[in-house]
Amino acid sequence: MTVFITGGAGFIGGNFVHYIKRKYPSYRVVCLDCLTYAGNIKTLDPFINDADFHFSNTDITSRADVCRLFEEERPDIIVNFAAESHVDRSIENPEIFLKTNIMGTQVLLDACVKYGIKRYHQVSTDEVYGDLPLERPDLFFTEQTPLHTSSPYSASKAAADLLVQAYVRTYGIPATISRCSNNYGPYHFPEKLIPLMIINALSDKALPVYGEGKNVRDWLYVEDHCSAIDLIIHKGTPGEIYNVGGHNERTNLEVVKTIVGILGKSEDLITFVKDRKGHDLRYAIDPSKIENELGWKPKTVFEDGIKKTISWYLDNKEWWQEIINGEYKNYYEKMYGNR
Ligand code: NAD
Ligand code: DAU
Repeated sequence: MTVFITGGAGFIGGNFVHYIKRKYPSYRVVCLDCLTYAGNIKTLDPFINDADFHFSNTDITSRADVCRLFEEERPDIIVNFAAESHVDRSIENPEIFLKTNIMGTQVLLDACVKYGIKRYHQVSTDEVYGDLPLERPDLFFTEQTPLHTSSPYSASKAAADLLVQAYVRTYGIPATISRCSNNYGPYHFPEKLIPLMIINALSDKALPVYGEGKNVRDWLYVEDHCSAIDLIIHKGTPGEIYNVGGHNERTNLEVVKTIVGILGKSEDLITFVKDRKGHDLRYAIDPSKIENELGWKPKTVFEDGIKKTISWYLDNKEWWQEIINGEYKNYYEKMYGNR
C-alpha cells in the first residue's frame, strides 16, 4: 500500500505521518510538501532515511511535478493536508490561499482521474460552516449544515470541498472529506493560539487575546484527528463527508488561563488586543455520524491533552526556537506590533 501524504511537514500532516508509520509499518509513505514557512522537515527526522519513506519537495499546484510523482509511485491512497492554514494570514493576503487550497486540490484530483486511485481524502475544516451564536450552546455543526464561510481561508477550503464533490459525481473519484474542529498538540506552528501562548508565556511575553477572549473553539488533540482520518480512509464510504470533533469547547480566555496556570505564570501577562476582522464566534462539531458509522471515539480530553502539549513544547525547545528566531520575528511584529 502506498500512501501520499501532502503537507506532511506541517502540523497535522506531520503527526499523521508519525501515526501511519507507527500503525502500518508495511505501508510506503510518500510525503509531498514544498516546505512553505509552515513546513518543517525536522518533524520528519525519524523517518527520513527509511527505505519505505520518501520525502518529495513538491508543490501541489505544479501539475508536472505531481504527475511525475504519480507515475513513479502509483499511490493507492492520497490524504491531502497541504494548505495555507492560518486565518489571519488569509485576511492579509488571500491570493496564495486560493492558489494552494483550491488550484492545488484540483491538480491532485486531476492526477487521480488520470492515474486512478483507491481513495482520495480531503482534509477540510469546520470553518466551512461559518460560526454559531455564543448564546445558543444547543446548536452544533452537522454534515447537513449549509456552507457559510467568513474568511478567505474558509472560503478557499469550502471551494476545495465543492470541487472534491464535483469530481466524485462527474468522474467517479472515490473521495471522502473530513471537517474537523481546532487541533492542538506537538509540532504546531507558533502562529496559532495554543503554541503561541505557550511560547510567549515561557518567556514572560504578553499574551495577545483578540477582542474580549469570548470566542469559542472546539479543541481536539491531533492524534484523535489522525485516528479519525485513518478510519475514514480504510472504512469510510466514498462520496461521504464526516465531521470530526470531541466536544471540548472552551473560550479563548479559558484556554489561555489554563496554559498560564499549568506553567505557573501570572495572568497579568494576558493582554486584550484588537479583534480579528470577521472573527467567527463559536465552532462546535456534532461528531455523531463518524461515531455511529465508523465507531470513532476521541481518546484525549482537553485537560490531559493540554498538559501533554505543554510538556512537548518544554521538551522540544530546539524545534520551535529555530522558528521564532527566523522570519517569524517579522511576522510577529507585523501582526502584533501595533495591535
Ligand atoms: P500547517 O500550516 O501546519 O501545514 C501545512 C503544510 O502544507 C506545510 O507543511 C506546508 O509546507 C504545506 N504546503 C503549503 N502549501 C503547499 C503546496 N502548495 N504544496 C505542497 N505543500 C504545501 O497546516 P495544519 O494546521 O497542519 O493543517 C493541515 C490541514 O488540515 C489543512 O488543510 C487545514 O485546512 C486542515 N485543518 C486544520 C485544522 C487545525 O486546527 N490546524 C483543523 C481542521 C482542518
Ligand atoms: O476550526 C479549524 C480551524 O482551526 C482550522 O481550519 C485552521 O486551519 C486553524 O488555524 C484553526 O483556526 P482558528 O482561527 O480557530 O485558529 P487560531 O489558532 O488562529 O485561533 C484560535 C482562536 O484564538 C481564534 O478565536 C482567534 C484567537 N486568537 C488567535 C491568535 C493567534 C487570539 O485570541 N490571539 C492570537 O494571538
